Amino acid sequence: MAHLDDLTEFLSIPSVSAEPKHAADVDRCADYLVGKLSSLGFSAKKYKTDIHPIVVAHSPRVEGKPTVLIYGHYDVMPIDPIAAWQSPPFEPTVREGRIYARGASDDKGEIMAHILGAQELIEEQGSLPLNVTYLFEGEEERGSYSLQEFLKRPEAQKELACDIIVVSDTGMAAPDVPSFSYGLKGVCCFELEIFGPKMDLHSGIFGGAVANPITTLCEMLATTHDENGRITVEGFYDGVSEIADWEKESWKRVPGMSDAELADLTGVPALRTEKGYTGAECVYARPTFEPNGIVGGYVGEGSKTVIPTHAVAKISCRLVPGQDPVDIMRKVEAHFKKVCPPSVRMKFTMQHAGDAYMSDPHSPFGKVAQRALEETFGNPPVLVREGGSIPVVASMSKLLGKDALFLGLDLPDARIHSPNENMRLDIFEKGIAMAKALLRLMSEVKA
Ligand code: BES
Ligand code: ZN
Repeated sequence: MAHLDDLTEFLSIPSVSAEPKHAADVDRCADYLVGKLSSLGFSAKKYKTDIHPIVVAHSPRVEGKPTVLIYGHYDVMPIDPIAAWQSPPFEPTVREGRIYARGASDDKGEIMAHILGAQELIEEQGSLPLNVTYLFEGEEERGSYSLQEFLKRPEAQKELACDIIVVSDTGMAAPDVPSFSYGLKGVCCFELEIFGPKMDLHSGIFGGAVANPITTLCEMLATTHDENGRITVEGFYDGVSEIADWEKESWKRVPGMSDAELADLTGVPALRTEKGYTGAECVYARPTFEPNGIVGGYVGEGSKTVIPTHAVAKISCRLVPGQDPVDIMRKVEAHFKKVCPPSVRMKFTMQHAGDAYMSDPHSPFGKVAQRALEETFGNPPVLVREGGSIPVVASMSKLLGKDALFLGLDLPDARIHSPNENMRLDIFEKGIAMAKALLRLMSEVKA
């Protein structure tokens, strides 16, 4: 099957954006896209950046028709823990109707569905019925620094001028229930380091006399939530709106998102939500504070009785409309300064951030996007918001002055960011059909 060959070739390139050892692979992946898009008659270019390249490609111009900008990312997350993969992450393998590889769903499978949808239209009709610009970046999984910079340039804004932005990098409720996601969470990432003694200490000779940085770090983290699961950072919820009643009602019907189903899918014995909200409501529309990793002291084999010099937590917050990521990081820093005891020193480092985003499901383009999903999957899409983030979307939409629509194909069991990431092949094929329907229907919208 030709479609599968294209996907397999794309997935075989280990374009892990976070790891310097893969820089040449990321570059090769951009070259692969330029080659593939050029072969379809697009004028495709690779823009070098300080980190990883950006690929921009334009279809031959069709006067009087709208221009759709299709954004995606060709970089992928690291593969750790490698031992948990059933087949090597960069040797795409088909098992029971799914292709397993890092990036299969997030986001190479979705990018390839769009490209092959356009390819089929070109093969069937000789050309596309509207103007398509592809924008594929290689840094989404690390915060899109280069694309954020690129988008500030007036020439880039001119080159990317469009009528609507389409993004396929989000979730889908169930194989026969497409999702039209009208909201993305914002995100901010930072580190908290706690420093104690100037050297590792014998925990018997000095224990009890000096603070253990690991304990202090954990105590400080434990002050961030109250007994109701609410975040205690002062001003954290300023500007956060309540969830509308129609949203609460419609989210009750999203397949797979009941509290029982969420517990089952994730394997936890019970959910722990913010009091007064369901799991779906917390995922879609409540801001969160999550330590993503914590390191300190001795973690080798056996035991070693020390008080370590320091401990560090990597933390991210998911944000909703009304919250500014930098303002939130300042508030979190102020909170930690307030609760940090005099027995240790702390260091707070801001990393990357992106705003939340809401799109308009009822605009002419929003309506045809929902029609394309319904035509393809045989059921109308559920209207959901996403717990995930695509940090560049809000600034891209603002700089280009156009709305962004999300038509995602990531199923809840696609294991994105996890070992054994996969994409169902029937969903991949439907994704191609969806991309075709979308271009056809969008070509009829008056720009
Ligand atoms: N494709 C995801 C975002 C996503 C997944 C949105 C599922 C909605 C549903 C994207 O590639 C991603 O993982 N983004 C990161 C951004 C972060 C590194 C700043 C995220 O959300 O963790
Ligand atoms: Zn991702």
